[in-house]
Amino acid sequence: MSDLSSLGDAFDPATFRSVMSSYPTGVTIVSAAAEDGTLCGMTANSFTSVSLDPPIVLVCSQIGARTCEAAKTSGRFAIHVLAHDQISSARAFVGFHAPRFDAVSHHLDEEGVPILDHWLALLVCKLHEVVRVGDHDVMFGLVERCGRADETPLLFHESALRMLPRLPALAVKGGPLSLEDDEDLNDPLVRVLAPLG
Ligand SMILES: Cc1cc2nc3c(=O)[nH]c(=O)nc-3n(C[C@H](O)[C@H](O)[C@H](O)COP(=O)(O)O)c2cc1C
Repeated sequence: MSDLSSLGDAFDPATFRSVMSSYPTGVTIVSAAAEDGTLCGMTANSFTSVSLDPPIVLVCSQIGARTCEAAKTSGRFAIHVLAHDQISSARAFVGFHAPRFDAVSHHLDEEGVPILDHWLALLVCKLHEVVRVGDHDVMFGLVERCGRADETPLLFHESALRMLPRLPALAVKGGPLSLEDDEDLNDPLVRVLAPLG
């Protein structure tokens, strides 16, 4: 049960962090090539869509992150939404000395942007705008190409990388749902989330 009395009078940074970690997200690797050709990449969960027309997404980057600096100079970056079996890839792109592209198979696209060979979804973006807000640079990307695979996502929740339990298949591409196998799929809310065609 939600407890309104737990809302303190004054803002508390620790509570703010805890509040934000209660919100589950997916996990991405954002990549870009620096001017000198260095391949940059960082694990990021602050990815969200902003606009459908034109198609714009955003990622919030701590000020000075090398990946954001590379995107600023090259004008391009890619966002890879990770699948459930990519925990080691997520870890490979965290920390100054992390192995990054030495640990994960990849190639360069025609613009020189490093693209991982495995992902759940991929968005290749032209940098639209960078807006500094507080201690982060918000990178807005105009999506030039995107695609997805039928895989289960990797999740980030309560400061931990998590895998979903095996879920009943959803009609991702508009195919018919089989409702016999799982009673939950008869719940109206679940059916809203699982489009019938
Ligand atoms: C699950 C997870 C999510 C993260 N999300 C972000 C994020 O959204 N923005 C960010 O700036 N850093 C985020 N980080 C931290 C960066 O991955 C980390 O600082 C990285 O080393 C930056 O690399 P770079 O400076 O080479 O670009 C996240 C780390 C983890 C483990």
